[in-house]
Amino acid sequence: MYRGQAARLETLAFRVASPTSSWPLLCAAGAKPGPAVIDWWSRRARSVECVTPANPVPCFKIYTREREREREREREMGSEEETVESREWVLSSYIPQGVPTSDHLKIRTVRIDVGVDSIPDSHVAVQILFISVDPYLRAMMTGQEDGLYLNQFQLNQALRTFGVGRIISSKDANYKNGDLVSNPFFPVANYCVIGSVFLHKIDIKDGISLLDYLSVLGVPGFTAWVGMQVVGDPKPEENVFISAAAGAVGMFASQLAKLKGCRVVGSTGTDEKVKLLKDEFGYDDAFNYKKETDFDAALKK
Ligand SMILES: NC(=O)c1ccc[n+]([C@@H]2O[C@H](COP(=O)([O-])OP(=O)(O)OC[C@H]3O[C@@H](n4cnc5c(N)ncnc54)[C@H](OP(=O)(O)O)[C@@H]3O)[C@@H](O)[C@H]2O)c1
Repeated sequence: MYRGQAARLETLAFRVASPTSSWPLLCAAGAKPGPAVIDWWSRRARSVECVTPANPVPCFKIYTREREREREREREMGSEEETVESREWVLSSYIPQGVPTSDHLKIRTVRIDVGVDSIPDSHVAVQILFISVDPYLRAMMTGQEDGLYLNQFQLNQALRTFGVGRIISSKDANYKNGDLVSNPFFPVANYCVIGSVFLHKIDIKDGISLLDYLSVLGVPGFTAWVGMQVVGDPKPEENVFISAAAGAVGMFASQLAKLKGCRVVGSTGTDEKVKLLKDEFGYDDAFNYKKETDFDAALKK
């Protein structure tokens, strides 16, 4: 087994904090370590595990014999899992046009080290509970930077999106296990280790449901707020027209406009949604753009 491991180790470049540490160490593929380092590891390594096959370069965990024994002791004592299995969606090729399919989006399983001793400072390990699937994500899969949206997703890396999760280990004094957090750049995955810089702590005592953090307090709500407050900024009694009125953004935009004292008209694609707009979302009027022939008249109603 050592011989096999040594052969694999030759292809690794070491990011070894302390070569005498008995803890698992992360190594990234790329440059070759010197013969002395290979020899050192080939005598000590028990097993090598690929943690992130291509993210952006493969990362491997090396278990020393001492660490293997520690893990066995921990398992016997029933201590918490240090690694978790996570399934993540990755973009395997860009999609300039059309509908994304399983040819472009793949699911893969990785093991992630979530033990508190192996995550970096100012990072936390998170179990991701909910993610938000928003239209802007599609624009990040085209492979074409258009200057309008966020950067394109990187190929063979997990998609990233707004989400809510629970902290399962922490290297940041501001967060502890069990804390609920939202974050705009969670991977579309079960688990992750992530920097705490963009985390927002959720206090369940506020009485806001976790899903509301992804809708009215998430990207759709933020988009509606920017459109209505920052860009449009309508004044009381002005007329506001909202297309895609029953969509995630439209339904919040209309309510923000109503709060500003505006008269709000929406358009949507079915009669059922027209009724919804008027009866539930608080629109003053609405019409079905697929049936309407005179848009000027509809807006003047
Ligand atoms: N959601 C976000 O977080 C977010 C963020 C930034 C930007 N945006 C942008 O905001 C817009 C709305 O997003 P959304 O999240 O509200 O979308 P959504 O919930 O998916 O709703 C989109 C709605 O647009 C309507 N629609 C489709 N084709 C149409 C057409 N040809 N003409 C008029 N309406 C059409 C459809 O409803 P009908 O039945 O009424 O046709 C559809 O339900 C999109 O352009 C999106 O890229 C959204």
